Amino acid sequence: MEQIKACIFDAYGTLFDVNAACRELSKEVGHKWESLASLWRLRQVEYTWLRNSMDEYIDFWQITSHALDYAMETLEIDNIKLKQELLALYLKLEAYPEVKDLLTKLKQKGFKTGILSNGSMKMLNSAVDNANIRELLDQILSVEECKTYKPSKKVYDLVEKIMKVKKENVMFFSSNAWDMHAASNYGFNTIWVNRFNAKLEKLPGKPINIVNSLEKIDEII
Ligand code: LAC
Repeated sequence: MEQIKACIFDAYGTLFDVNAACRELSKEVGHKWESLASLWRLRQVEYTWLRNSMDEYIDFWQITSHALDYAMETLEIDNIKLKQELLALYLKLEAYPEVKDLLTKLKQKGFKTGILSNGSMKMLNSAVDNANIRELLDQILSVEECKTYKPSKKVYDLVEKIMKVKKENVMFFSSNAWDMHAASNYGFNTIWVNRFNAKLEKLPGKPINIVNSLEKIDEII
């Protein structure tokens, strides 16, 4: 893997635990909290794909709010205060426990590090500061730069455009299989962080490795 110069991470589900907000408020949400978390996430990513197709970009914060509205309506959870609390927690999602240690090791090994995410800059800055990992990241890249969502190639292009690292020199990590497939198809080397024991999608692009967390990644690359 001598050609790898930069390790670039997807944010939501890969570095930050997207279920943390609903889990933290599971008492208030009640027994539906897991259904709420998964429907919220599903609609959130589906709305990005649909808005790409419609050429109707709005930022990820608004998409996240719309997806939560849909999920709460569907599950008949009618509680504005709870919605506001869930959204507020989304700005402070926990990082997975191994993240800080891994980024530290990657920096020690001389890799450039970055985030490439659908998230708005405000959301990403907030999550990064909350996880206390800012000094371990060379770059935070938001789709706000190109106003379109993954899996558009315009998003993956941001790494070369802004970090000046060629695609063949990038190792991209995502827990979202569709994001990994698209990034591989684009030309990044990829590692699929299969945190939820999912199956590969029937889509173009293959990872060079599959792991179930970011632990021990520094031993692989
Ligand atoms: C992101 C979503 C796809 O951070 O997880 O871009």
